[in-house]
Amino acid sequence: MRNAMAEAEVGDDVFSEDPTVRQLEEEVASVLGKEAALYTPSGCMANQLALAVHTMEGDEVILEADAHIFNYETTAASFLSRVQLFPVKAADRGLLSAEDILPAIREKAYYMPVTRLIALENTHNRAGGTVYPLERIREISILAKKQEVQMHLDGARLWNACTFSGHEPKDYAQHFDTVSVCFSKGLGAPVGSAITGPKEWITKARRYRKIWGGGMRQAGIIAAGALFALRNNRERLTEDHANARRFAEIIFESSSRVEVDMKRVETNIVLLKMEGGPDLQHALAMLKERGVLLSLGSHGLLRAVTHLDVTREQCEQAARTVCELFG
Ligand SMILES: Cc1ncc(COP(=O)(O)O)c(C=O)c1O
Repeated sequence: MRNAMAEAEVGDDVFSEDPTVRQLEEEVASVLGKEAALYTPSGCMANQLALAVHTMEGDEVILEADAHIFNYETTAASFLSRVQLFPVKAADRGLLSAEDILPAIREKAYYMPVTRLIALENTHNRAGGTVYPLERIREISILAKKQEVQMHLDGARLWNACTFSGHEPKDYAQHFDTVSVCFSKGLGAPVGSAITGPKEWITKARRYRKIWGGGMRQAGIIAAGALFALRNNRERLTEDHANARRFAEIIFESSSRVEVDMKRVETNIVLLKMEGGPDLQHALAMLKERGVLLSLGSHGLLRAVTHLDVTREQCEQAARTVCELFG
């Protein structure tokens, strides 16, 4: 990847003259079966661009209560697009159903918010990397069409969802107007995400990206890393998933005070519940001292993520360390 970055052909991407960025945008659009794509510095920007192109001020966006857009994007939707978010709690592991969503769709009246967009997240980060069944997405998209509501997918970890389900990215993407994907999480590139969708909307997104200060010049250097990741690092996600499962199993089968819900372990994220409520910051510090880097998840859980820089042995060792420290 570093070699590809060093050798990347570059140009001025603000004038759409960077051949590597253009190649990346063409390839990712094609992988997702969309007309066009735009490379962005971050996943947050890709999601916020989607909101900006879909909505008008005063509109409402339905999403899951634990969605990244609602929890971790610093209220960007309200001050960049001036829209209201309508969080809906999913009955099943962060995964919304058409029945969950229906009551949140507003009746059409001038004094009500306009339900403009449904934004789903696949895999669902805060729920522990859970994967939407394709059929569920299809049902939601039928409801959305019927109600004249648009659909966006926060697909930061769509690659992991595909690895788990065996579906192609296009199979999911066909049900959404726009899809954002990330190159810098499981795929291991240093920088960047993309928003994909119809040409007209991506042209509009390019303008907003510039307004928000995200127009990049010789971005081919980082795009080359993303392109390498897109081409080479998707298949190996099976290893990350197997490692996450192994990490979880060791803890699940131990007699430690750490609980793990195996039903949620579908991809590369494992959430841990510490029985007896130890101070979580202290627990993280103790683990870090022993070489195990976990982070604070939501709802008082600890969060472990497997990725291309950790081996099977390291994951097993990490699980054993968790059990020893909290046995
Ligand atoms: C589901 C999801 N969407 C979007 C993002 C935002 O990505 P970035 O950190 O590149 O802004 C993240 C980051 O963790 C995420 O988990």
